[in-house]
Amino acid sequence: MELYEVLGWLNVWVYVFLTIKAPLKILNKRLKNKSLMKINSFLTRYHKYLGIFMIIIALAHAYVLGYLFRFNSGTLVLIGVIITSILGVLIRITRNKLVLTLHRLLSIVVLLLMINHIYLPFTFKIS
Ligand code: HEM
Ligand code: HEM
Repeated sequence: MELYEVLGWLNVWVYVFLTIKAPLKILNKRLKNKSLMKINSFLTRYHKYLGIFMIIIALAHAYVLGYLFRFNSGTLVLIGVIITSILGVLIRITRNKLVLTLHRLLSIVVLLLMINHIYLPFTFKIS
């Protein structure tokens, strides 16, 4: 496996660890399982670091490909992650529910952009 692939797939996993706490929380409303609660508070504690990590890994992934300054479907994912992270910071500052909702919605947009980037090669190179 090439380094860019390792970094790209690593970022897919980082995405999973960033977002899985939402379905886990819903599930745990029914299960009320202590270990699940522990996993979720662990994920919450490291959430913001994972968000920053995702941006850094995406930049490294683009850099090793020589694509750092070339606009393509990966750039769209990166922009999505950056906007999502800015909203994440704003959740804490504003304590506004709407910002949290937008942050959640954007995480789904990021998923769609990732699927587009990885599985739809015909949209791959925009320029
Ligand atoms: C969170 C952001 C990103 C994720 C999760 C991601 C994920 C991936 C993955 C998993 C692959 C490998 C696909 C395969 O195994 O065939 C890949 C390939 C690639 N990505 Fe990304 N990527 C991201 C951001 C970017 C950015 C910012 C760029 C460039 C500006 C970029 C450019 C590329 C290129 C050029 C390839 C190689 C395609 C090929 O020739 O096979 N990616 N990406
Ligand atoms: C620096 C970056 C980030 C910061 C500061 C941040 C901050 C936050 C905060 C404060 C919350 C609400 C409290 C909580 O449940 O922990 C939250 C929830 C959430 N974040 Fe982030 N976030 C960041 C990046 C991201 C990224 C990149 C994604 C996904 C692409 C993401 C996905 C989510 C999701 C899905 C939730 C809802 C969780 C739930 O419903 O319990 N976050 N984030």
